[in-house]
Amino acid sequence: MTVSNELASLEQEAAAALESVGDLAALAEWKSKYTGKSGALTRVSRSLGALPVEQRPEFGRRVNQLREELEAAYAAAEQRLKLAAQAAELAAERIDVTMPGRTPALGYVHLTNRVLGQVQEIFGEMGFLVTESPEVEFDEYNFSLLNFADDHPARDMQDTFYLDLPDGAPSVLLRTHTSPGQLRVMRERAPEPLRILLPGKVYRNEQVTVRSEMMFHQFEFLAIGRHITMGDLKGTLAYFAERMYGPGTKVRLRPSFFPFTEPSAEMDVSCFLCGGTGCRVCKYAGWLEIGGCGMVHPNVLRNGGYDPEEFSGFAGGFGPERIAMLKYGIDDIRGFYSGDTRFVEQFG
Ligand code: DAH
Repeated sequence: MTVSNELASLEQEAAAALESVGDLAALAEWKSKYTGKSGALTRVSRSLGALPVEQRPEFGRRVNQLREELEAAYAAAEQRLKLAAQAAELAAERIDVTMPGRTPALGYVHLTNRVLGQVQEIFGEMGFLVTESPEVEFDEYNFSLLNFADDHPARDMQDTFYLDLPDGAPSVLLRTHTSPGQLRVMRERAPEPLRILLPGKVYRNEQVTVRSEMMFHQFEFLAIGRHITMGDLKGTLAYFAERMYGPGTKVRLRPSFFPFTEPSAEMDVSCFLCGGTGCRVCKYAGWLEIGGCGMVHPNVLRNGGYDPEEFSGFAGGFGPERIAMLKYGIDDIRGFYSGDTRFVEQFG
C-alpha cells in the first residue's frame, strides 16, 4: 500500500470507528487509538522519511490536514456525547411536579387532655383557678390529713403504690387521687376564700381491665368561703353538666361516703343520649354516674388551716377518662394509654 493510500484508509477507518462510539469513555479510547501520541496517525506519519524528498511536503500537508480533520471530528463527537449524557442525567432526575405531595403526619391532642381542657374552661368561667400538686405525695397528705382512719383499706399496699424508702423516712406514695392537692392549696392560702381546680395523674395498684388502669387522671375542684352551702355545690355541678354534656342535662346527687366530706354524694347526670328515658349508654337507668363530691369535712378544713366554725366548702373529684368514655361511647379504658395513635387520631 502506498503511504497516500494508507492515509486514505486511515481516514475511512477512523470515521467509521467514530460512528460506533457511544459514550465519552469509548471516545477517549478512539482518540488514543487514532490521534494519540502512539496512535495510528503518528505511526503513518513516520513513513515520511521513507518518501522521496519531493513527495515529502505534500505528504506532510496531508498528514496535518488529516490530524485537523480527526481532531475536529473528535471535538464534535465530544460535544454531542456530553449533551447526550447531560440529557440522560436530566431525564433520570426529572421531578414530576404534578405528583401529589406527601402530607406530614400531624400530632393530636390526647383525648384526656382535650377533656381536661374543656373542664378547665368550664370551671374557669366560674372563677376556679387551675393549679397542680405533686404526683409523688406523702402518705399524710394522701390519707391522714384527708381524715382517713389509720386502718382504712385504701392504705393497703394492694391498692396503693408506696415508695421504697429507708427506715425512718416518712411514708411516700404515688397519689391515689387528686384530693391531697386540697390540703396543699389550703395550707398555702388559708384563711383566704378560694376556688381551685387541680387536674392531674393518679395511680392505683389495680388489675388492668377494660374498666380500670393503673394510671389515670382526676380533677379535683374545691371552693372554700364563709357561706358556702350544698346549694352552691349543686349549682356548680349543674353548670358543669350543661356545659360538658349539653343544655338540658340534669344533675342528681346520691348519698355516699368519703372520709373527707360530710355529707358526701355521688353525682349523676341525666343521660345525654336518651335524655333520661333509658338507653344502652346509661344501661336503661336514665342516669350516668360521674364522680364523688361533698361538703369539706370540718377535720379537713381544720387540717388545711381554716376554722370550720367560720368557713365551709365543697369539693369533688371526677375522672376525665370516664367523662370521655361516656361522651364518646368508648368501652375500653386501655385504649387511652396503649400508645396506639389510631385511638387518639379518632378524636383529633
Ligand atoms: N378522691 C375521691 C376518689 O378518688 C373522689 C372524691 C370524692 C373527691 C369526693 C372529692 C370528694 O373531693 O369530695 O375516689
